[in-house]
Amino acid sequence: MAFDIGKIREDFPILSRRLNGKQVAYLDNAATTQKPSAVLDAMRNYYENRNANVHRGGNALAEEATEIYENARKRVARFIGAAASEIVFTRNATEALNIAARFCTGQLGAKCVLLTEMEHHSNIVNWQLALASCLQSPMGILHKQNASDIERSSMLKATQWQLAAKAAGARIGYVKMRSYGKLCNEDVEKKLSAQQGAFSFTHASNVLGAVNDADSLCRLAKKAGALSVVDGAQTAPHMKIDVHGMGCDFFAFSAHKMLGPTGVGVLYVKKELADKLEPVFGGGGAIESVALSGSTFAAAPQKFEPGTQDVAGAVGLSAAMDYLESAGMDAIEKHVSSLHKACLEGLKETGGVHVYGNGNRTGIVSFNVGRLHAHDISQIASDDGIMLRAGHHCAQPLMKAIGAIATVRASFYIYNTDEEANRLAASVKRAKKVLS
Ligand code: ALA
Repeated sequence: MAFDIGKIREDFPILSRRLNGKQVAYLDNAATTQKPSAVLDAMRNYYENRNANVHRGGNALAEEATEIYENARKRVARFIGAAASEIVFTRNATEALNIAARFCTGQLGAKCVLLTEMEHHSNIVNWQLALASCLQSPMGILHKQNASDIERSSMLKATQWQLAAKAAGARIGYVKMRSYGKLCNEDVEKKLSAQQGAFSFTHASNVLGAVNDADSLCRLAKKAGALSVVDGAQTAPHMKIDVHGMGCDFFAFSAHKMLGPTGVGVLYVKKELADKLEPVFGGGGAIESVALSGSTFAAAPQKFEPGTQDVAGAVGLSAAMDYLESAGMDAIEKHVSSLHKACLEGLKETGGVHVYGNGNRTGIVSFNVGRLHAHDISQIASDDGIMLRAGHHCAQPLMKAIGAIATVRASFYIYNTDEEANRLAASVKRAKKVLS
């Protein structure tokens, strides 16, 4: 498929919506993307004609559904340059990052972790919890189960948890970023050498958009003997990913930010680790045998997917990847980069706009207008039919580092147009008039 923006827009039913009497310009793609008919049709077809439970039961429909599910896994593996056995389906990137943190701290011996100032909360809180779980001392056993014992015990548990959480905080280091949103490699090297365990970083910040050099960061981690965990939520939708070339141990992303459905994410787990790790969650469909005295697990990746999986979601993600690759990842990157440029030019003409970072590859433009409040700008844009996000973007430490309470964020994707970028500039101009 050649990159034909008119044709692409026709594939997304929601883009014809009007709100407040205005044609919708959807510029909140870093939060979630719209879905093309091909994805919706694939999921509907699965439920209408193929639905059964997978990896259980010997009936023909179940076998067909299992094949479809495993084909979706192969599709995902091809998209990021992995082997199918290294792909674990999760609910979203957040869950994937939580599992990775549990693996690193619980089983792979990471006692500390190095993060960066630009992380989304999903790559901070997961580590705080994982480290706190490891540090928490045993709760002890209650002998007398009366009400006051239970109350005392809950208070004790809460205090222990708070102490463990505090101790966990002390075991997390943060790499500084440069003002334009890239990481400072010297700081990585300095801090990694003093760290034992894991280095977890975002491939691109959801606020600043600049893409970190994941290959060299993973190399630095390896040199320091640390595991590498990459949050690819903002890059997998925008560029070719090659996890083997990158050399990461874990890579996480979400389907819904790349034209796929909500409720499905992916954790890539490097083969050597996938083979030796034990699951974080247990249940049916992931075991080899279960006895009252203990259980043994299936091979990777099945052992990491207990319970009934979101098969239709995996099918939807696979169809989204087909769609993206047929448009061409290079063409998408080029298109998004040109929209980013158009947006910056429009905002520059408006005057008084401060842009944070450089999201030319991920289509992210975070900005503030003088002292006007980000939410007011976003509200006026919404009245003009333009969908943006305003706030701290689930990245409060980053906001502190850039000295802002909130920013307005426009984020572009495959179906956006220059005209929409121009409408944004006009709306910001209007907001300035209305609010000043
Ligand atoms: N992480 C998503 C965002 O940046 C929700 O908006």
